[in-house]
Amino acid sequence: MQATAAPKTRFQPTRVAPETFLIHEHQGEGEGPVSVALNTMVIRAAEPVVVDTGMAEYGDQYLDDVFSLVEPQDVRWVFVSHDDVDHTGSLNRLAGACPNATLVINWFMVERMGRSLEVPPTRWRWIGDGESLDVGDRVLHAVRPPVFDSPTTRGLFDPTTGVYWASDGFATPMPTPVPDVAELDPTGWLEGMAMFDQYVSPWLLLVDDAKFQRTVDRVKALAPTTIVGCHTPVIGPTHVGAALDATRRVPSMTVPPQPDQVVLEAIQATLGAAA
Ligand SMILES: [Fe+2]
Ligand SMILES: [Fe+2]
Repeated sequence: MQATAAPKTRFQPTRVAPETFLIHEHQGEGEGPVSVALNTMVIRAAEPVVVDTGMAEYGDQYLDDVFSLVEPQDVRWVFVSHDDVDHTGSLNRLAGACPNATLVINWFMVERMGRSLEVPPTRWRWIGDGESLDVGDRVLHAVRPPVFDSPTTRGLFDPTTGVYWASDGFATPMPTPVPDVAELDPTGWLEGMAMFDQYVSPWLLLVDDAKFQRTVDRVKALAPTTIVGCHTPVIGPTHVGAALDATRRVPSMTVPPQPDQVVLEAIQATLGAAA
């Protein structure tokens, strides 16, 4: 017998700053104890920018949301923060639908994606950490977040709005999907961030703390007004300071262990009972 899936929460794209929109997606709702955001972003600059492309399985909704904000032929840049599947899922589809778009990637992303990247080199721009991208009415800065799980990672900072796209940084699971971290329990939010950070970046336990703190200092020095990312609800102006402070503490935090074989067997038993 097939269980009836609970209806999925749907958030319309959220305006996080002038001409800047977060596209919401998530997975895990109704399946596990938490769900995880899978967001992307659109900046309607003079030369419009799409930031990350979500997971392939949500591509239809993703493209509908992107093109509710910007016409396909107007998309000039597709900034890909790194090569993980939850950031590149609709990359080829998006590039195919947007003939004037150039992919903002880097050399190592090309190497790691191999033939899964179907967009030809004539449509690439390689931008590394610390470099910038002129999009007509503003210059965006590629800044690697303190926490990341691919060597190709760069975040994206827009100095005209103060919005920082943190890629996998500042991430947290959600008990139920919410659009803004203000709707999360404050303690659960920050404990969840520590857990998420250590799961995706176990090397945090190995780093020289002074050097790690400088990576947080670097983001703080941008004076971001809003932090957004793939795996976090919006971190608005009243919560940016807490997010930065919490990130500083992550390497010394104790977090719950990841689900193991015992958990898997419990899931399998549930599936067997439902079959
Ligand atoms: Fe990642
Ligand atoms: Fe991710």
